[in-house]
Amino acid sequence: AKEPVRVLVTGAAGQIGYALVPMIARGVMLGADQPVILHMLDIPPAAEALNGVKMELVDAAFPLLKGVVATTDAIEACTGVNIAVMVGGFPRKEGMERKDVMSKNVAIYKSQASALEKHAAANCKVLVVANPANTNALILKEFAPSIPEKNITCLTRLDHNRALGQVSERLNVPVSDVKNVIIWGNHSSTQYPDVNHATVTTSAGEKPVRQLVADDEWLHGDFISTVQQRGAAIIKARKLSSALSAASSACDHIRDWVLGTPEGTWVSMGVYSDGSYNVPAGLIYSFPVTCCNGDWTIVQGLAIDDLSRKKLDLTAEELTEEKALAYSCLT
Ligand code: NAI
Repeated sequence: AKEPVRVLVTGAAGQIGYALVPMIARGVMLGADQPVILHMLDIPPAAEALNGVKMELVDAAFPLLKGVVATTDAIEACTGVNIAVMVGGFPRKEGMERKDVMSKNVAIYKSQASALEKHAAANCKVLVVANPANTNALILKEFAPSIPEKNITCLTRLDHNRALGQVSERLNVPVSDVKNVIIWGNHSSTQYPDVNHATVTTSAGEKPVRQLVADDEWLHGDFISTVQQRGAAIIKARKLSSALSAASSACDHIRDWVLGTPEGTWVSMGVYSDGSYNVPAGLIYSFPVTCCNGDWTIVQGLAIDDLSRKKLDLTAEELTEEKALAYSCLT
């Protein structure tokens, strides 16, 4: 039998946490033959609720779940973890300045970076979900210098999956037949959902989405804005932000990273830029990646047209600015 993998979920008493931990315990993230030990961290005001989640995990009697650590102590939470899903953060409240929110999250990610650096298992893989996700991941990377930069990522898979969903609805084809959309850049409304390289599996072979949709106005207009604004649309409808789709996409992100992407398929991940596609190095930026043997690689050589170039640059500019704001909170 396989040794259990220790998976940390921070902010585990929150909405995404509540949707995510049962998925992990059922094997959705790491496979139906992989036992897991869940480490759940939250802050003292949420300690009682966190304990309630632990009670429910016990009550659900998940066969793969070999243990649960529920704690408000970051060191205890981080000790020995192989995978860390960082969902906890400080939400933007009405009337708050951007800098104040950034400053709270910088403080959280700086201290949790140190806890992970000192106490996580060697080669721990980190996924940051909490917003501002790219910049939180960058701060985590800066303050956990012994964790390889390749191991620190942020979630844009939800945006990627939303883009697949929009194409699937538009063409009335199963979402599993659509692949290779790309989310470029920031997990924010400046992200660029790109279908220029996406394809659909049809009875006549693989066809480009560009050819099947034909309506360039939709592809350049409503498609992009619907994906960019989907988070806000969910909040409007549910009065709460996306949780089940965020949790499911976080599982997709880790599963593909650890177990590999299928041949001929790429996914979007926020990763540390090496300057590919002339994106400034040193940002956490969403790129198309393939994964193999637990490592991601940025897909190279895709043609970028003028319209796309502008959008790649715009979201990079926003991230550069966010990075500067985050650094200004450190001093
Ligand atoms: P939530 O407010 O329901 O839960 C957040 C939890 O984090 C709370 O239980 C809170 O007590 C906890 N927390 C706060 N500070 C903490 C700390 N220092 N350490 C540990 N836990 C801490 O929020 P929800 O809906 O679960 O969303 C979580 C985050 O995910 C938010 O930042 C949200 O903006 C982000 N998000 C990101 C998405 C993405 O695609 N990257 C998609 C959807 C949400």
